[in-house]
Amino acid sequence: MSGELNIFFTGVTGYIGGSVLSRLLKHKDAASFHITALVRSTEKAEKIKTLGVETIIGSYTDEDLTFLKEAASKADVVITAVDCDNLPAAQAILDGLKLKHEASGKAPILIHTSGTALLADDARGLSSEHIHYSDTETDKLDALPVTTLHRNVDIPILETDKAGYIKAYIVTPSAVFGKPEGPLIELGIQNSHTIVIPWLAKASIARKQGGHIGKGLNVWPAVHVEDNADLYLILFDAVRAKPDEVPRGYYFTENFHYSSLEVSTVIAETLVELGISTDAKPSGFTVEEREKYFGAFWPLLGTNCYAKANRGRALGWKPKYGKEAFFADIKSEVKFFAQQQQ
Ligand SMILES: NC(=O)c1ccc[n+]([C@@H]2O[C@H](COP(=O)([O-])OP(=O)(O)OC[C@H]3O[C@@H](n4cnc5c(N)ncnc54)[C@H](OP(=O)(O)O)[C@@H]3O)[C@@H](O)[C@H]2O)c1
Repeated sequence: MSGELNIFFTGVTGYIGGSVLSRLLKHKDAASFHITALVRSTEKAEKIKTLGVETIIGSYTDEDLTFLKEAASKADVVITAVDCDNLPAAQAILDGLKLKHEASGKAPILIHTSGTALLADDARGLSSEHIHYSDTETDKLDALPVTTLHRNVDIPILETDKAGYIKAYIVTPSAVFGKPEGPLIELGIQNSHTIVIPWLAKASIARKQGGHIGKGLNVWPAVHVEDNADLYLILFDAVRAKPDEVPRGYYFTENFHYSSLEVSTVIAETLVELGISTDAKPSGFTVEEREKYFGAFWPLLGTNCYAKANRGRALGWKPKYGKEAFFADIKSEVKFFAQQQQ
């Protein structure tokens, strides 16, 4: 692929990133994109190259991150979908984008992946009371302290934007679910599983009953992996078409909210269907189970998070997949991991 728009993309083999890259590859302007992807293994790099994508081998955890700075310094657009809490990597990318700004006199575009866990409370499954957040409420979001999850990276990004070096758009997915599709899946190099549902499914299979934190009353937003990826592309197109009109900052992705109890009930019922459990009702994880299955992350599973994705919708984003698809996906994940654990 040769062309005019240099795109540097990290996390292309990931659940989220792979779905975004798949869309970029079939974009109507794809012939004019020069995409460079960061990958960690030569084996994956060889397969990605078959898609016309250039690769750089490296890791966000490498001691020397000069390669990230260099790659970003050549990019008109950087898309990130790796560990959203890795500040040294984010800083190297921001440093590179500043160089690009100095050299071109233009502010390059950064589409960074964060997560709605930044809105989470500490309900521990005992309450569904929550603060409502919309991605249009910039003052409320700006007030979230650096100690809040993901803000250690989001704040420096937003500050670099404010200083005029970059145009930053922080895509902030909620609980992503569903089966990704596309060329990276076909090549067998994209992760096809999300984060939270497999944790709960594996723990529930091991204890032979669906489980939740506390009473499971807490609520979270969710979005299908394909709907989530659509938002990146809608944003990418909007920003290129009208760079000064599209609001910068947070873009949540969600299509509905669910309670932990709903999820643990689907898991419990599936376990009965599979003959692993005789109890179709979930129960609270014990203190020991919380530590054993989730370690330091267990409180996160009991949090409330309420996020309205109004900015994406204002750009024309129309997520399609609802709760029915979510529950069907949970069922399929439980079946997958039950088979794997046999
Ligand atoms: N999934 C969700 O529900 C969700 C929701 C909100 C936010 N997020 C956030 O979105 C980001 C991506 O999540 P995901 O679900 O797509 O994760 P994922 O499927 O695990 O993908 C992670 C991607 O990053 C790459 N990667 C991992 N460690 C790396 C390193 N040290 N250096 C360079 N690349 C590395 C992986 O490459 P390999 O192929 O080499 O492993 C893969 O391409 C994360 O920050 C996550 O917290 C996820």
